[in-house]
Amino acid sequence: AGVFKRTPEGQEAFLRFIRSVLKKEDASMKTILVAGGAGYIGSHMTVLLVKQGYEVVVVDNLRTGHWQSVKGAQKFCVGDLRDTAFLHRVFSENRIDGVINFAACSLVGESVTDPLKYYGNNVEGAVSLLSAMQAHGVDKIVFSSTAAAYGEPEKQPIEECDRTEPTNPYGATKLAIENMLKWCDRAYGIRYAALRYFNAAGSDTEAGIGEDHEPESHLIPLVMKTALGRQEHIGIFGEDYPTPDGTCVRDYIHVKDLAEAHLLALEYLDRGGKSDVFNLGSGTGYSVREIIDTARRITGRPIPVKAEPRRSGDPSVLIASNKKAAEVLGWKPSRSLEQIVADAWAWHSGHPNGYEG
Ligand code: UFG
Repeated sequence: AGVFKRTPEGQEAFLRFIRSVLKKEDASMKTILVAGGAGYIGSHMTVLLVKQGYEVVVVDNLRTGHWQSVKGAQKFCVGDLRDTAFLHRVFSENRIDGVINFAACSLVGESVTDPLKYYGNNVEGAVSLLSAMQAHGVDKIVFSSTAAAYGEPEKQPIEECDRTEPTNPYGATKLAIENMLKWCDRAYGIRYAALRYFNAAGSDTEAGIGEDHEPESHLIPLVMKTALGRQEHIGIFGEDYPTPDGTCVRDYIHVKDLAEAHLLALEYLDRGGKSDVFNLGSGTGYSVREIIDTARRITGRPIPVKAEPRRSGDPSVLIASNKKAAEVLGWKPSRSLEQIVADAWAWHSGHPNGYEG
């Protein structure tokens, strides 16, 4: 009793001691903190973790997330990552074994007009989260990064070792966090897997969750809204790209395949795997026109289109090499473009007003 003083610091030290004893008794990973767990990908992650028997503590400030999308979590803590007192409470009250961080602003266009919002929310949020992890002895994090970290690609398919020169602040903040993670591993032994997503789409039809952004800027949800007649046409941003049909080519990946990759990454870190960066994409590219044609087939709706000018900053082709994730994590995406579009359609047609309706 003499070792731990009756001061806040002493109580902290005592709690840390108890936690370390408990951890040794039960070394298996149990409780995962999902930051941004009320967002599109975070909510799908939570559903998968719960299904796999993990306890999930969701942290979300609900600025862009939806409370209705959080299903099966043990706890749902509403607050901002930058609120250090709040985060400290979350880590003190829960025995967190690993962290997955989805919490971020993610609108490329907005990041160009308001970069400080992105540095503030994304980078400061990550600093605060890593500080809390360090203080509470949590040593594993799976981080949600992006293909935007590459900028204009050197070659296709894009490999993890390719040049990273983001062309917008959104990508720059994600890359800055990847770098920060590297140094935090060296200094504090916090190991990480940074996952660079290509184009996430689809939904979990069983769980009844899906994509609901305001404003929506992504192609597949906008195509779905057009199929539903909620907008007159879908604009095709540029038909003069050096691609087979002149429209941009992207690598679409099912959100459930993405969630499975995070789980594999977490388990990899838990086995003692070293920190690394992985692309998450299907390895196949589809043009904007191909997406619209697939959507016409699957929805049976006409989906009118309108040619529009190029959107600034859009690379013509982005296709992932997913070799590294396959080799190191054992990840193989299994859902086709048809499945992605069918699941997106199920969500949007069943929830034309998103989570509000
Ligand atoms: N597009 C249209 N019309 C639309 C919306 C999009 O033609 O109404 C086109 C875009 O020009 C692009 C493609 O459809 O060629 C896909 O656009 P999205 O906005 O759906 O996705 P992005 O490829 O621009 O963005 C995705 C992620 C970002 C990430 C980026 C990396 O959503 O978070 O990849 O480059 F930063």
